[in-house]
Amino acid sequence: MRASTDPSAATGERYRQFADVEARGLSACYEEWARGVADDPATVALIDRLPPTQRQPNLVFTSARFLGAPVAPFPSFAHWLAEHWEAVEGVALTHATQTNEAGRCAVLLPALAALAAENGPLALIEVGASAGLCLHPDRYSYRYRLPSGERMLHPADGPSPVVLDCVVTGRAPIPERLPEVLWRAGIDLNPLDVNRPADVDWLDALIWPEHDDRRARLQAAVGVARRHPVEIVQGDLSVQIEALVARARAETPVGTTIVVFHTAVLLYLDPASKERFAAQMERLPVCWLSNEAQGVVPGVLQRLSVTPPETSAFILARDGEPLAFTQPHGRSIRWLPDSVSSPRPAG
Ligand SMILES: C[S@@+](CC[C@H](N)C(=O)[O-])C[C@H]1O[C@@H](n2cnc3c(N)ncnc32)[C@H](O)[C@@H]1O
Repeated sequence: MRASTDPSAATGERYRQFADVEARGLSACYEEWARGVADDPATVALIDRLPPTQRQPNLVFTSARFLGAPVAPFPSFAHWLAEHWEAVEGVALTHATQTNEAGRCAVLLPALAALAAENGPLALIEVGASAGLCLHPDRYSYRYRLPSGERMLHPADGPSPVVLDCVVTGRAPIPERLPEVLWRAGIDLNPLDVNRPADVDWLDALIWPEHDDRRARLQAAVGVARRHPVEIVQGDLSVQIEALVARARAETPVGTTIVVFHTAVLLYLDPASKERFAAQMERLPVCWLSNEAQGVVPGVLQRLSVTPPETSAFILARDGEPLAFTQPHGRSIRWLPDSVSSPRPAG
């Protein structure tokens, strides 16, 4: 079956796929809406007025909620959508699905901290950074729920207003302290600005209906990001990455480990672009951390020796080697038993 973001798939199929794989277990409302759309030719016909790239469920539902669509059973939603279609179309044509989930730092952190413990301080480059909320892993607090009990971690200057909760299974290397980050920057096709209220409202609408804890976390993380501005270069990740790695190299002390990471980004690339980016990661003097849906990063699924727990689970990988299964919004991490822990030398 093809992803809900695949513009070549029929709209009904994309919505059914979204219900079955992406929304199931995460949002009862979106699962019901997506199934409702898939079974309703009139709503499909409405959505088919959009170009194929803009028909994705997350974009259409977010655009509707951005404009005030009530969280209600599908028949009411379908009625509302038909009445407000022109406005929804206007938003869907001018916006993109750029969910920025600081919670994903909780699943990146064990890998980042392992790199810092082995190699020293880090320079972080996030490709597909949206508003850059995942570029502050050293400025958030963490509550890891391990089988043996809770482990709290705080930034060096004390507890953060953002506390990321994460359930841990397997022998994840939960660190004693947060990694030192000397330099950070992002790349995005369309960087969002935490100082622009319309951008923050869009980020808020992108959070799924039932996820009130994520909405509160977004506001707190936006506060952190406003206090610590980070440059996000506008452009395509493959086009911009080489210059940004060179800048990180030039602007940090010798021996700094440059980490290029991404979460929930590569699914938006066509197969040739994914291959091109993976080849760049192989060639550049960086450590590469990916946290993406199954089958999205070339080669990662093939190197897996364990069956993923759910189809929606992401795979965290370092230099293409799977490390863990992660919940897509960072709520849990299941470390793999035989995952590697040594990075490639970072040039
Ligand atoms: C779903 S958001 C994820 C944001 C962030 N990584 C996170 O996990 O919270 C995906 C982001 O990737 C960006 N993106 C998609 N394709 C891109 C490309 N080819 N080059 C740069 N950014 C891209 C989008 O603009 C969007 O902001």
